[in-house]
Amino acid sequence: MTATTQYLIEPGNDRMANSARDHLWMHFTRHSSYYEGGHVPVIVKGDGAYIWDDHGKKYFDGLSGLFVVQVGHGRRELAAVGAKQAEELAFFPIWSYAHPRAIELAERLAHYAPGDLNRVFFTTGGGEAVETAWKLAKQFFKLTGKPTKHKVISRAIAYHGTPQGALSITGIPDAKIPFEPLVPGAVKVPNTNFYRAEEEYRHDEKLFGLWAANRIAEAIEFEGPDSVAAVFVEPVQNSGGCFPPPPGYLERVREICDQYDVLMVADETITAFGRIGDMFAMNRFGVTPDIITCAKGMSSGYSAIGAMIASERLFEPFKHGTTSFLHGYTWGGHPVAAAVALANLDLFESEGINEHVLANEGNFRRTLDKLNDLPIVGDVRGAGYFYGIELVKDKVTRETFNDDEAERLLRGFLSKALFDNGLYCRADDRGDPVVQLAPPLTCGQKEFDEIEGILRSVLTEAWSVL
Ligand SMILES: Cc1ncc(COP(=O)(O)O)c(C=O)c1O
Repeated sequence: MTATTQYLIEPGNDRMANSARDHLWMHFTRHSSYYEGGHVPVIVKGDGAYIWDDHGKKYFDGLSGLFVVQVGHGRRELAAVGAKQAEELAFFPIWSYAHPRAIELAERLAHYAPGDLNRVFFTTGGGEAVETAWKLAKQFFKLTGKPTKHKVISRAIAYHGTPQGALSITGIPDAKIPFEPLVPGAVKVPNTNFYRAEEEYRHDEKLFGLWAANRIAEAIEFEGPDSVAAVFVEPVQNSGGCFPPPPGYLERVREICDQYDVLMVADETITAFGRIGDMFAMNRFGVTPDIITCAKGMSSGYSAIGAMIASERLFEPFKHGTTSFLHGYTWGGHPVAAAVALANLDLFESEGINEHVLANEGNFRRTLDKLNDLPIVGDVRGAGYFYGIELVKDKVTRETFNDDEAERLLRGFLSKALFDNGLYCRADDRGDPVVQLAPPLTCGQKEFDEIEGILRSVLTEAWSVL
């Protein structure tokens, strides 16, 4: 902790954690565990790839916060830019007005985005960007003579955010059931989990990719092409444990979307801004969608900002007459957030962050691949600085854990053991049990070895306590 930090509640004793338990409604959190002897972890400081709790204990941030802190913690230059912007113009909305930072950031994002994705609609996060994309898709087709096109297709186990539209697009039943009925018209197709592919496709990734993409065409035919507006895909799907696109998959999705006049939306909330070694993963994969949604890494977490970036074709009907997109957020394109995002993107350029990821991603993969010698590790998969490690009960048969075992393994043991051993990352069971890793993009071999070392010892212990 820095000497200048002032706390209203004294850190380093249970007061802070107890106050969190009693007043702070934490997101996606099972609060009961904190009333049954558990201790709310309170993180008070970050520097580079490390974070510290209120007792002064240091951890490696193996998830960049939540796939966010691309350039690492403690960047004073980004904090200073935020403070300067707040002094100059703390707030002004972009509702019929503009301000320099939103203009500059929009131009910058359009420059990085593939094709003619030139129209930037700011939000405060990824879920709002997804929500915005669905609304735009609906209105676009209403304005262009296809008013019945309104449904969306997305993939099993994919997470696309919590607003009710975005939650409909999300493919995780447990995250949706408490809030049903949600927005109707959201259809699910298989994801690209090659490890769990049917036997006949398990040995040919390209064939599997073609099979998975063709399920989208099948769903469009089944629903009726006149009813389908958009397909949402993450270039690399996070939830379920990092499913990269098989070779040819994204190209085939693009082809299907063109064939049926359905918009292809790349949800790059996680994959943009260097996570896969490019400003947008779709640049790396060489496919131009109609819309990109993004957030998280845009500011490396030094401010809250997201965006939907649409093609010129989608903006065209909004250029004329009395038509407008009646949609917006007070904080969308916030001057401080936009200024910080611009400074963050400057760091990407001056420090060669994308180039660093491209140069080191192979080492990251090779280091994690070493874990394949453990009996509990079924699959190591991912791209760039974005990996999932699937845990299995039987490596040969790929048998996974039942619900009770997954509960005991992930919640009962792994999450806590990894954290206690100094690695903050995510043990997730939204699909099959996985450990997810997304370190800051400034990391290199030393940090990869540290991650591997902690995982090795904790996963070895997990096997023995099963
Ligand atoms: C692919 C994807 N879409 C949308 C979201 C929602 O973003 P937010 O939490 O900023 O609303 C997330 C969050 O992790 C995400 O991973």
